[in-house]
Amino acid sequence: MSQASRGSGPSIVIRGGRVVDASGERRADVAVVEGRVAAVEADLDVPSGARVLDAGGCVVAPGFVDLHAHLRQPGREEAETVESGSRCAALGGFTAVVAMPNTTPAIDSASVVREVIELGRTALCEVHPSGAITVDRAGERLAPMGEMADLGVRIFTDDGTGVQDDGLMRRAMEYAVGLPYDVVLAQHCENDRLCAGGHMHEGEWSSRLGIAGQPAEAEEAMVARDIALARLTGARIHMQHMSTAGSVALIAAARAEGLAISAEATPHHLLLTHAECASFDPTFKVNPPLRTDADVEAVRRGVLDGTLDVIATDHAPHPPEAKDEPFDLAPPGMLGLEFALGVALSVLDLPLPELVRRLSTRPAEIAGLTDSQGGPVEPGRPANLCVFDPTATWTVEPGMTASRSRNIPYVGRTLSGRVRHTLRAGEPVVLDGTPQR
Ligand code: DOR
Repeated sequence: MSQASRGSGPSIVIRGGRVVDASGERRADVAVVEGRVAAVEADLDVPSGARVLDAGGCVVAPGFVDLHAHLRQPGREEAETVESGSRCAALGGFTAVVAMPNTTPAIDSASVVREVIELGRTALCEVHPSGAITVDRAGERLAPMGEMADLGVRIFTDDGTGVQDDGLMRRAMEYAVGLPYDVVLAQHCENDRLCAGGHMHEGEWSSRLGIAGQPAEAEEAMVARDIALARLTGARIHMQHMSTAGSVALIAAARAEGLAISAEATPHHLLLTHAECASFDPTFKVNPPLRTDADVEAVRRGVLDGTLDVIATDHAPHPPEAKDEPFDLAPPGMLGLEFALGVALSVLDLPLPELVRRLSTRPAEIAGLTDSQGGPVEPGRPANLCVFDPTATWTVEPGMTASRSRNIPYVGRTLSGRVRHTLRAGEPVVLDGTPQR
């Protein structure tokens, strides 16, 4: 037996769980003192005054890191705020999120970066703004990436749209390589001209439903272009929300060649297909669109074999009045932060350390957050932790979210795997599935 508390201050003992990080798993209690992990050992003593968190039957893991969350602030607070989005994140086991720049105004300057960092200070998880690649995400002129990087921005993206101009994307990569920081350019891979007028995947279901489609090739053309440009420039690139079998194959080939390329899969592309659109429910409208069974299978295989090394949510809140439009008029996007773990555990037969690698360790590496996020769970590390029951099953009900929006695509589905507690720097922000503020 050893003491849980070394030093002063309130302490927490997370008792009876399996500690899992990217390096493996072991049975151990975890003591947290003053925001840091103080001990990871079996049968820790509980010092008087310490709070005990029950982790029986649960996994104790480094908190998840989402590379892709739309928090909508500034400008679209009716859909989400940094605070409400961070509450969704904490409920989903995330202790850090990268906020996408398609806000109003866009996160394309030092002043908006500062504003989002400021909003994140009181959030329930770390909030790291991404910066736009181009001014106002308009795809015409490079944004001042250097001054945003000076403030700590490490991921640049025009997410919501891809950078269409090949020459401009090449210059963005060259500029990124020249920065005195290790930054990554993340791409929303969709060729606008090939997608023009489309509202769902182009295929059997779009024909049957009479809804104009967006072909898989619209995504694959941009994936192929950016791989070529990364080869040319040496830039680090990250492919967002990969949705087609062809994209997964292109990334596998680029990796085999040794290019510095990472890629993400979303929960919805791991579970849902274009057949959902037969309901004409705009909840199922998303960019890139839900694809075929074969694509879902390829995305799953991509995550299993590590070609897609990250699971990221693309949490995209839209308020009911926006989604309550005909399919072709409604905005694309669906909620994800609270459902990512449940979907991942339900559809992927992945060893838990590998699951933690995809949800926490790799995204923390890509976003440059390894000082505070991504594990390992060991003494001295900041206590950014989540505790989840991998076998708990739950059925998603309408409105089962802390978001200001309601566009949940999993209503009626039973998922297995649920977050019990989340600690941000030692503060229990979620206890027994309930947000603490
Ligand atoms: O469906 C989507 N919605 N895809 C994106 O890339 C952007 C997102 C949003 O911001 O709503």
